Amino acid sequence: MTTIAALPKAELHCHIEGAMAPALTRAIAQRNGVTLPAGLFSGQGGGYAWRDFNEFLVAYDAAADAMRTAEDYGELMYGYLAGCAAEGAIYVEMFVSPDHAIAIGLGFAAQLAGLTAAIDRAEAEFGIVSRLIPCCIRHLGPDRALEVARLVVAEAHPYIVGFGMAGDELQHAPADFAPAFRVADRAGLACTVHAGEVAGAHSVRDAIAALPVRRIGHGVRAIEDPALVAELARRGIVLEVCPGSNLALGLYPDAVSHPLRRLLEAGCRVTLNSDDPAFFATSIGKEYAMASSRMGLSASELLAITRTAIESAFVDSDTRRALLARIEKGEPT
Ligand code: ADE
Ligand code: ZN
Repeated sequence: MTTIAALPKAELHCHIEGAMAPALTRAIAQRNGVTLPAGLFSGQGGGYAWRDFNEFLVAYDAAADAMRTAEDYGELMYGYLAGCAAEGAIYVEMFVSPDHAIAIGLGFAAQLAGLTAAIDRAEAEFGIVSRLIPCCIRHLGPDRALEVARLVVAEAHPYIVGFGMAGDELQHAPADFAPAFRVADRAGLACTVHAGEVAGAHSVRDAIAALPVRRIGHGVRAIEDPALVAELARRGIVLEVCPGSNLALGLYPDAVSHPLRRLLEAGCRVTLNSDDPAFFATSIGKEYAMASSRMGLSASELLAITRTAIESAFVDSDTRRALLARIEKGEPT
């Protein structure tokens, strides 16, 4: 019998700034001489303190603000990938926010240098493959998003495979960001956008109507509109589902209420992801384990989810073929 721990795994939706565990944030802040805001953590040695989505975004910004150097981003990325590899992940597609690097005076080119060096080191040491999706931040507005898209295209790198948008889904409309996504799309970057997380099905509908996206970050609230679910299934738009994040943020009261299984049964292409593992007490291994133990997915259904992730990853075809071959061989067992 296949154990879930031994299954090959892949994730397409994780934010590097959201992967920084409190202990690392403290260490990085200390060596950079950065004073973290009082109340960022819940007590001595505790996790990040936040009560709702908006407080989460504030804590996320404060943690990211501890970093200063390419090495900070590199240490974070290398450690994260090492942990994923230990849990059986063969591929991680990582969101990275140029706005956060600019806010700390580092800049996108240096952020990218730190991340790509870590990706090379992790692949050499653990065999895990990783690629980057720079994302704009929705609540910073369409003009800023367009600037970020231009910056990303100007810094072309083989590990930059996509363009995305995170941030507060309740701000602005997807169509406002069409110019930014057009720049990315025309430069050959595959696109994804957060939608159907904090806002309902209409947000997913608006996003797929206005933006050239192949995937949706989260998208779970599409379940509120059966016709939309059918359209997502028919068009093969992949959902980057993050159950642990959804439970932590209170979208659903428990794993049994989470729509992952219903989306799968409706024919949607779904993947499993950790989103902001350091904030939501999760990891890619824990997401697979929860889908197995609390949502009733079988090992073969979970393996099919890994296959979907690799099939819909924004990688070149040679890398995709090599990763699919590893799944068929049953790596990493
Ligand atoms: N940025 C980091 N995590 C996010 C999430 N879950 N939703 C929207 N923006 C984010
Ligand atoms: Zn996200």
